[in-house]
Amino acid sequence: MPERSLIRNVMTSPDPRRHAPATARNREPILDVLRRVLPEAGHALEIGSGTGEHAVFFAQALPAWQWTPTEADPDALASIQAWIAASGLTNVDPPRLLDVQAADWGVPPVDAILACNVIHYAPWATTPALLEGAARLLRPGGVLYLYGPYRRGGQHTAPSNAEFDVWLKQRNPVFAVRDLDEVQAEAEARGLVLCEVVEMPANNLSVVFRKAAMTP
Ligand SMILES: C[S@@+](CC[C@H](N)C(=O)[O-])C[C@H]1O[C@@H](n2cnc3c(N)ncnc32)[C@H](O)[C@@H]1O
Repeated sequence: MPERSLIRNVMTSPDPRRHAPATARNREPILDVLRRVLPEAGHALEIGSGTGEHAVFFAQALPAWQWTPTEADPDALASIQAWIAASGLTNVDPPRLLDVQAADWGVPPVDAILACNVIHYAPWATTPALLEGAARLLRPGGVLYLYGPYRRGGQHTAPSNAEFDVWLKQRNPVFAVRDLDEVQAEAEARGLVLCEVVEMPANNLSVVFRKAAMTP
């Protein structure tokens, strides 16, 4: 079953840390892919960081990377900040408010952009906006990493993904499991080349795009 967003606070108030149980299940498989596709060191911009659990886990596991978590939802920032503070990590920046549909993301060029479980929890317009921003802000050769469930060739890849799609649309009619072919077409129109599609647990995919490196 794909990852329904079940978020609760770790403890009762005043601890602002939120907990999404799916992050504990998917973070190791995601990290395995990141270790393989990312260079040794760099600066990563995480889109839709949610609770902030992924940010601290990946930053701890990849200490040569500087991590910038971001969120479109201002209510999520306190949780992300609290996870960072509790981690004691020095390679995670304070969370930034960032809606990918903004014309200017207000951040410098980066080596990687990650968006886990974002594009199906948002209107379709979020996907081209994310790709546009990635094409603009990634350094040549930089990686755009997407994680989540996808349709392929217009079809769901598993019954659980079809059920999840129904559940998403009941939650918000503009949410939907996206078709990888459509995402790829939008990406390649912006110079982001599909490098890898990795099957992940629970019928999710890791989708890795790379911005074309500049020729000398
Ligand atoms: C299901 S949560 C995923 C959180 C986290 N990445 C994870 O995998 O647990 C989806 C997140 O996408 C964010 N989001 C939705 N639309 C967005 C947009 N236009 N720009 C940036 N983030 C957005 C939401 O605020 C939400 O936190």
